[in-house]
Amino acid sequence: MKTLLVGYKVQDLFEVNRRGERRPVPWLDGDITCHTLDIYHCHAIENSSCGVKAVCSPHLPKDNWDLIKFKTGPKLMSGELSLDLLQEIHLLHPKRFELEFDGRERDRNDLIAKIKDDPDRVRDFSATWPASVPGGQKLMLTSFPGCFCHRRVDDGGLALAEVVSRELSGKNPRAILDMGCGCGLVGFLVAASHKGDTPVRLVMVDSHTRAVEAAELNAEKLGIPAEVILSDNGTPAQMDGTFDVFVGNPPYYSDYKIADIFLETAQRALKFGGVCYTVCKNADGLEPVQRRYFPDVEIIRRRGYAVLKSVKN
Ligand SMILES: C[S@@+](CC[C@H](N)C(=O)[O-])C[C@H]1O[C@@H](n2cnc3c(N)ncnc32)[C@H](O)[C@@H]1O
Repeated sequence: MKTLLVGYKVQDLFEVNRRGERRPVPWLDGDITCHTLDIYHCHAIENSSCGVKAVCSPHLPKDNWDLIKFKTGPKLMSGELSLDLLQEIHLLHPKRFELEFDGRERDRNDLIAKIKDDPDRVRDFSATWPASVPGGQKLMLTSFPGCFCHRRVDDGGLALAEVVSRELSGKNPRAILDMGCGCGLVGFLVAASHKGDTPVRLVMVDSHTRAVEAAELNAEKLGIPAEVILSDNGTPAQMDGTFDVFVGNPPYYSDYKIADIFLETAQRALKFGGVCYTVCKNADGLEPVQRRYFPDVEIIRRRGYAVLKSVKN
């Protein structure tokens, strides 16, 4: 029997018995594939030896699935991503479908009702919205459910793009690395605002496949060439000490572990004299992490956010 798991993470595939031993849940039986949207979760399943195949892709893999099990709920993903994935599951015509809903019965029924009303209507969940920095051109960016920030400009990302665009005016950066690029908000605004005469090499990295899909699409639509890389841990290609500028709006969860990965990448990727810019709501948490890699940190306030600037010496 071929089963596809959607919305499951590695911790859902294990249980701990009374003796405190961790082992795969008993229902993991047969030929099982677990779909993930983030390469971090994909690697976690691959390294767990639970016998489940992991696949990381922006859309669900096509096959003749006997069973698709979908785990969702308000704390696990946005309502729009739930609907989008339910629609993809419906279009795959599995022989059987099971929903594991983590949340209130009322919310579960609301979700089912939205699909049941008109199951064959195929909805487009992408959104295209404007973003600009002062004096720069207005860019139309497309995003998808699950990708940060879907349907709207993130104020932290915009604050970062505004500060970096202003700081680069009159300068001639050749290579910019945007880590955790999402749909490409910061990298594209900075590259578009830069009026130097040498072409900017723009590299964008994200661990989320839908972010990568959106950034690739936006690069094409905006006519701004970009190398977009799916990675959760930096890649040798970007750690080559040749970048002039690093920009990153790291996620807040994980007790700054991801911010640490971003800043380690910045330190390796930048050339001497290159500048690292990160952004957060409150500098108190991020500043000590940035100081591990760059002894000097200047804080620039913008839109209620702190942009942390460091030069690689
Ligand atoms: C706060 S969002 C910023 C998105 C975009 N730069 C902006 O400002 O709108 C953080 C991004 O980091 C990505 N991310 C999380 N962990 C990552 C990792 N280990 N490597 C690369 N990207 C990561 C997330 O998928 C998300 O797109």
